[in-house]
Order: sequence, then structure tokens, then C-alpha cells
Amino acid sequence: MPENGANDLTPTVFVLYGATGDLARRMVLPAFFQLAQHGLLPDEWRLIGSGRGERSDEEFVDHVRDSLTEFGPSPDEGPWDEFAPRLRFAGGGFTVDDPGQLLDVVAKARAEIGEDAQVVHYLSLPPKAFTGYTKAIGAHGLAEAARIVYEKPFGDSPEGFRELDGVVHSVFDEEQVFRIDHFLGKEGTQDLHALRFANGLFEHVWSREHVAQVQIDVPEDLDVADRADFYDATGATLDMLVTHLFQVAAEVAMEPPVSFAAHDILAARESVLSKFRPLEPDDVVLGQFDGYRDLDGVPDDSDTDTFVAARLCIDSGRWRGVPFLLRTGKRLAAKQQRVSLILHRPKGPVDDVPANGNVISLSLAGAGSVDIDVMAKKPGPDLAMAPARVSLDLSAIPGGEPLPPYVSLIHDVLVGDRSLFTTSEGLAQTWRALQPVLDDRPEVHRYAPDSWGPVEANRLAGEHGWLLGQTED
Ligand code: BG6
Repeated sequence: MPENGANDLTPTVFVLYGATGDLARRMVLPAFFQLAQHGLLPDEWRLIGSGRGERSDEEFVDHVRDSLTEFGPSPDEGPWDEFAPRLRFAGGGFTVDDPGQLLDVVAKARAEIGEDAQVVHYLSLPPKAFTGYTKAIGAHGLAEAARIVYEKPFGDSPEGFRELDGVVHSVFDEEQVFRIDHFLGKEGTQDLHALRFANGLFEHVWSREHVAQVQIDVPEDLDVADRADFYDATGATLDMLVTHLFQVAAEVAMEPPVSFAAHDILAARESVLSKFRPLEPDDVVLGQFDGYRDLDGVPDDSDTDTFVAARLCIDSGRWRGVPFLLRTGKRLAAKQQRVSLILHRPKGPVDDVPANGNVISLSLAGAGSVDIDVMAKKPGPDLAMAPARVSLDLSAIPGGEPLPPYVSLIHDVLVGDRSLFTTSEGLAQTWRALQPVLDDRPEVHRYAPDSWGPVEANRLAGEHGWLLGQTED
């Protein structure tokens, strides 16, 4: 990692739309500051906050400082004094008819750091605003040689996706587009391909011959009180299943990339999405926790799913017949982010290995960890077997410094590495796989807060059951 500021990145004008919104305050501004702390920003950069209101640069600097104080890292940790003077604000909104102050502020920034500075547009905006801002960027001549970052969800339905995709491609080439799915930026998710392809121990068992079932389980214990409006219009299926869980499933299921070059990893992950069999409505269980409708901003008769579990089939030679169990929900009994490969019982002389005795499991939370459940000899005079666990904390690997997903992904945007972003073709495949469930939506079952969701989801997991909830995890 370079020393502070010492790198050869192209000078960059980073335009943050929705700069005073919640996502920018919680995620994007803190991530940008962490890049500065790690010396991962170009030597020359300006960050321009764009918003509808009027603010001076000084007021925006105060806003950024307040955001960092609230969500970390603290500006007092430095290098705030070098960071703050590079922040600008362009008010007055930004539409096709009226660019507000943005064109002037971008021109000034370029005059300061170089006319050939690259422009990165970061749309930290509600998805419904993507179309209008994309058109405005095109109309005002800011698309050329620029990069653009979209938050998820990219489209709210198959039709919505196609319309947005059409507009985006009328303004940008696909190579300019970075669609964020922050689960792909997690250290643990990246280790799915790193560990697998660098170790025969994993790669040799990574197929239907050895794997009986895959579980991707992301229970959450929080509710959605602080963003009920967004959530009620979205629900767990769109917020998490068609996005994060499908992308992680593709990470697990992909064929070996030709190399570890960014475009090869991207191509391998995206290509397996076309093998996802469209979900049968019978293989999906939806739920809503009791008390959800009492939240402020949620209608009394809301039928929004706060829980979804699905049994996905992947029609590739490697995975034929291996169910991928996906589950997530709000107000569940625990917060975890786990990918588990349950191995077949070994054929051989030991005949009392339990169904879930051999499991390779990765936690995607935080810096990530790898846990392997094995059967071992119970110490003592008899030859008896007992379950045991081997764990590797990924943050403990010497010399490394784990980066939070947004930090890692914004860095990738700056250097132009698209390997951890989704593509238009890949997203079209995820919507294709979800379509039957949207056409014939399963019933939404009630579940008690602090439980593991509706009991109806248990049948999806078959004899293995859901691993989380069975153990102390
Ligand atoms: C977001 C979803 O994309 O991911 C949230 O909108 C979810 O509903 C969140 O809680 C989980 O991600 P993480 O990594 O922040 O726990």
C-alpha cells in the first residue's frame, strides 16, 4: 500500500450526487475519508457534493466533518487538514434543463487539478432518480471518458431494469459503468474465489461430487424503522435476494476464471448467472415479522416481505442436483452472514458421520473468517468420533489490512477495476431467474421477532436443516 498521497492514480474529480443524503453520510463520505487515510486517493483530487439546496463550500466541509464524527472514522485521526480544502459544493440541483452550479464547479476543479482529470459520477441517490440524473449527465456533456457509479437496486423490476439499462447505455458505454453490490466488496466474499482457486483442499471438493448443499444465510436482527419508506416499497426479495444473495451464489458457483485478472473474474461470475434456473414459487417462502406494520411509515395492511428463503438450482455440470439455499430477513434471532458448503458424508468405514459433520463455511461479516467443521477422534481411550471446528480469522493474516466494502469498491472505481461490480448482462439474468416469483408471488407468512422466520422455510432445507439456528452460532 502506498504512503499517503504517493501513487500514480489519475487526477480525479469525484462528483457525489445526493451528497447530503443518508447513504452519503453513512457510507460514501466515510469510505472516501478512509481512502485518504490509507493513501489510496490520487495525489490530485476534488470531491464535489451536488445537492438541491444552496450551501457554501465551508458549510459542506462542516457537513462532511459532522458525518465523519457521527459515523467514523473521526476527522481528528487525520489527514483532515489535507482533506477538507479539496471539498466543494455545487447547489441548485442538476437536471436536463438546469445544471445548477455543477458545470461551473467541475470546470473550476479541472482548472485546479488538470484539464485531463477524470470525472467519476457517484449516484448516491434513490433508484428512482437514476434515470433523470443519467440523462442530465449526458445532456450537459459530462459523460465523455467519465465513470459512473450506481447504488443498488439497479431497477426495481425486470421492466424497470430494462428501461434504466436502455437510458444508461444511451449515455455511457458498459465499461464506464460501475453498479455497486457491496457484498461483492466484502473481504470474505473475495476470499471465496481466493481460497478456492489457490488451495486444492477447497477447489477439489468444490462440486456436486462432494457438496450436498450450499447455504447462503444472512439473518439480521435489526428492524427497518429508520428507513421504513424505502423498505416498504422494496422488501427482502428485491433488497437482498435478487441482489446480494444471488451475487454471492454466483461467486460460489462460478467456473474457474481463465486468470485472476479483473475481467476474467468478472466474466466467470457473470457467466454462471445465466445457469440459474428460474425460481419456482413453491421453492420460495416469504415472511413478515409481527409488529412490522406498526412501524412509522408502514401502512397497516402492508404485505411487504421482511424475510425470504429460496431454494435455487444451478443448471451447470458442476452443480446439477445441489440445492443452493438462500435466506435473509429482518428481526431474526441473530445477525450473521454465512456461506456454507455441506459436504457429502464420506464413503468408508466411519458410518456415524452426521449429515452436517463436514462443512466448509465462510463468514462474510467484518474482515471475514473461514471455519471448517470436521469429525475428529474424541480424545480418550476409545475410538469415538466428535465434531470439531478449525477457524481462520482473515483479519489475522500477517501484513494485511482489511478494507470495508465501500472503501475497497470506491478504490476499484478510481483505478478502473470492474471485477467486483455487476454488469448489465448479469443483472438481466438475475431478473430472469426471479421473474416467476414476481409473476406468481408466494403467500407472506407471519413470524415472531427474534425467531428464525416462518417455519414454512424449514422444508426447503431438507434433511440438513438450516445450519444457523441449529447450533450456538
Ligand atoms: C443493504 C440492504 O444493501 O445491505 C440492507 O439494503 C442490509 O437492508 C444491508 O441490512 C446489509 O449489509 P451490511 O454489509 O451492511 O450488513
